[in-house]
Amino acid sequence: MSRVFARLAPPVLAPVLVLMLVAAALVGMDPTEAAATQGARRPSAAPPGSLDPPDPYFPGLGNRGYDVEHYDIGITYDPRSASPAGSPPGNAADHKAGELRGDTRIRATATERLARFNLDLVGFDVASVRVDGRTATFDRTEHDLRIRPQAPIAKGEPFTVRVRYSGVPLPDQIPGLGLQNGWLLDSDGAATLNEPDGARYWFPGNDHPSDKATFCFRIDVPTPLVAVANGMLESKVASGARTIWSWNETAPMATYLSQIAIGNLDLRDEAPVDGVAIRNAFAPGSAPKAAAAAKDTPEMLRFLSGWFGKYPFSTYGIMVPDGRPRGLAFEAQTFSIISKDLFEKPDFASAILAHELSHQWFGDSVSPKTWDETWLNEGFATYGEWLWADHALDDPLQDEVDRAIRAVHRSPDVATDDPGIDQMFGPVPYERGGLTLHALRLTVGDETFAAILRTYLARFGGKSATTEDFIGVANEVSGQDLTSFFRSWLGPGPLPQFPKTAAPLGSDPPAALTIAVATR
Ligand code: TRP
Ligand code: ZN
Repeated sequence: MSRVFARLAPPVLAPVLVLMLVAAALVGMDPTEAAATQGARRPSAAPPGSLDPPDPYFPGLGNRGYDVEHYDIGITYDPRSASPAGSPPGNAADHKAGELRGDTRIRATATERLARFNLDLVGFDVASVRVDGRTATFDRTEHDLRIRPQAPIAKGEPFTVRVRYSGVPLPDQIPGLGLQNGWLLDSDGAATLNEPDGARYWFPGNDHPSDKATFCFRIDVPTPLVAVANGMLESKVASGARTIWSWNETAPMATYLSQIAIGNLDLRDEAPVDGVAIRNAFAPGSAPKAAAAAKDTPEMLRFLSGWFGKYPFSTYGIMVPDGRPRGLAFEAQTFSIISKDLFEKPDFASAILAHELSHQWFGDSVSPKTWDETWLNEGFATYGEWLWADHALDDPLQDEVDRAIRAVHRSPDVATDDPGIDQMFGPVPYERGGLTLHALRLTVGDETFAAILRTYLARFGGKSATTEDFIGVANEVSGQDLTSFFRSWLGPGPLPQFPKTAAPLGSDPPAALTIAVATR
């Protein structure tokens, strides 16, 4: 949410940070990995603990050689059960997470012959790893769990992995923002924040948005704490002093969009909206303000569906955890997480909710294939936010456009689709991304603009996409070659002039789509 981040201190020492990451990437590629890769049947530059090619901003995220279909994540958590001595170094004073016991089962398919493979995981003691039910050997690097099954897995074979681990989760930092993510504490429990690389701080997986999978969560907490996660609540089973909360997300999801919150949450089922089940979870004291803001969800869903097409998931709601983090909003799939301080000003909260709801189409249903292209999330969610602000908040679209022009004025050298790791959540992917979409709308007209968005969503929903994919759809649906239009709008370079229109554009969705949405 752009305005939230505008209130944060701008990142300092950005070039130093980038250098540190490059150094870390080099360290990650140890000589044994390189040697092992050379001997592989399909020679590749990338070690198993890295994608091929590696993510341009996070060379250590994601792994080669398999495709995850499903995660079954078991978490047993006891808030603050750890002794202070058990707190991680570096952040001991403000990070006193409790003990977490994890049991993750993964169903995957080998995309090459696997004598060994990696999962992303940071911290914890790993007790055991099983591949297809048989004990596997493993060791650790700083960010990976390296696994060697008893026998190699053939290319194309499905396989299962089960990892049992425990410990106090380590804190992570969001690149360029200096904010904590990963497993965060709450006054009475915990909440996670995983974009872009926090998921590996609490479960082992292929922590990269190019590999989406379905998820279920079994969260075992002391009664009467409530545990929420993405998707639908399957069951809640109390036994003795503990309750196991099972949640199920049946649509493919990127690991960074997974989300847990544990606390004294008030979990409320609301009336469904056009077949979409609605539930919200409020920390003590966050309702009635948060609940009042969430009352707009039905109208927001219907309004945004008018532009983007059918809502892509079976359920939606917001979770408002207690305590930290402050000033943050995040588009966890089906269950956006919003910190409770953001509900103080109703219009501000409403714009944030529209931004996060827009992300359910852009970011969640269609995820970015690589982390240099956050504008595919943020530019589109920003545009959804502008449309809602015009429609419902007395904030004309043209005013939002003018504000965005001022916001990116000083960054002509930043490319929207490659802003650099320190600006991946900076103003350019949000504001210039939104301006690019506005310019596209002015160029092709409302019907074609909506048809482009819907075709992109239909074609890449449940998967990940690139800027090239979006431009390809725009060209195809509009029947024009918009490639150089996108190059000049996305930058780098000064902002182009908007095409002249007779009247300023509003936010009403087009009444009829003149161009059919093609799914190919
Ligand atoms: N995607 C978030 C938004 O714009 C911004 C964000 C990036 C974020 N990383 C985060 C928010 C980590 C919370 C935590 O809505
Ligand atoms: Zn966003």
